[in-house]
Amino acid sequence: MTARFDPRAIRREFPILADPALHYLDNAATAQMPAAVEAALLRFERSLRANVHGGVHRLARDAVAAYDAARASVARFLNAGAAHEVVFTYGATSAINLLAHAYGERLAPGDEIVLSLAEHHSNLLPWRQLAARRGIELKHLPVTDEGRLDLAALDRVVGPRCRLFALTHCSNVSGAMSDVPRLVAAARAVGAPVMLDGAQALPHGPVDVRALGVDFYAFSGHKCFGPTGIGALWGRAELLADLPPFMTGGQMIRRVGFDDVEYADPPRRFEAGTPPIAAAIGLGAALDWMARIDWDAARYHELRLTTRMLVGLSGLAGARVLGPLDVNQRRGVVSFAIDGVDATEICRVLDARHGVALRSGYHCAQPLVTAMGFPGVARASLAPYNDDDDVDALLEGLEAIVRERGRAPVAVG
Ligand SMILES: Cc1ncc(COP(=O)(O)O)c(C=O)c1O
Repeated sequence: MTARFDPRAIRREFPILADPALHYLDNAATAQMPAAVEAALLRFERSLRANVHGGVHRLARDAVAAYDAARASVARFLNAGAAHEVVFTYGATSAINLLAHAYGERLAPGDEIVLSLAEHHSNLLPWRQLAARRGIELKHLPVTDEGRLDLAALDRVVGPRCRLFALTHCSNVSGAMSDVPRLVAAARAVGAPVMLDGAQALPHGPVDVRALGVDFYAFSGHKCFGPTGIGALWGRAELLADLPPFMTGGQMIRRVGFDDVEYADPPRRFEAGTPPIAAAIGLGAALDWMARIDWDAARYHELRLTTRMLVGLSGLAGARVLGPLDVNQRRGVVSFAIDGVDATEICRVLDARHGVALRSGYHCAQPLVTAMGFPGVARASLAPYNDDDDVDALLEGLEAIVRERGRAPVAVG
């Protein structure tokens, strides 16, 4: 299985990773971009650049064709029923805000939405704003000691007024994967649709939204090896068709009169104004690039590296990992703290002395990190181009930090 998978060959496709001294383990924040995506961006700017607002000249037609092809690539990667179920947004945050506004218009005071304690602020604050605007009740699934959604609480949290589940597919802090079949069953029992925040799940391989049985799926392009400023909201056609627009403006209408308006069908109803055309085309190229990876082998590789990290961390005095220790329940996103060393200091030292790029803090999931009793965590997150060298550089750096801890302040430089 591993013979077919060569992380170094993958790494060679990423110009920025040509530097052998760089150990990039901040993929959950933003993954790197392969040359194939750069080429797609450059091709648009040099050969197709025009608006996608229905101009009849050649460049406009070519730009529309490339934009539509990108939408089809996203639909393919998600196994969506149709390309028009894919709405381009500026990222996961804007996808969730879109849904919170549009779907929120269909809710009445006292209706309930189920979230969890593990949500990224992007899947928490838009719903909080909606709750304040329209008198919606937010119900929170707690988490287990390992930071997984505590499904034992479903009976208590889900009631007859539940109108939506809006939950993480994979936690950006603990790496824990949500048990989607059980969540979908609980939502169906009360007739509520399910939205998954897939920002951290999709970078680890294709997702089959129909097999998952969910209704909406949000994600960001820059975590999937694509450009920044682009993402998508997938929604079942019949549900999208029933939603009002969020943003209004050009190109999302069928007809505008002096005092009335007929909106276009989805997805254009939700794509007011000039979209990030190049970025959308880049996202299509990124998902086409991802589709060529052998994900069974990549998953095996990721499991192996995740295990290597967890085993290494377990041998470090004073290190505590936030998240499931069973690698089968998580993706390669590993957050940890080391007693007596500030998480940001860990990241500074790893960067300055070991060329290892990590991220520290609450990771925009402050309720989760706080509830788990951490004052902040350092996070290492994997992509298919990472290999044993990256993990070993991380562990060696951490061992040095632990050795120095208590002697003197760990000075960078
Ligand atoms: C789980 C999760 N949801 C949503 C987001 C927001 O993504 P973006 O900032 O690209 O909109 C992130 C980003 O870190 C995330 O990890």
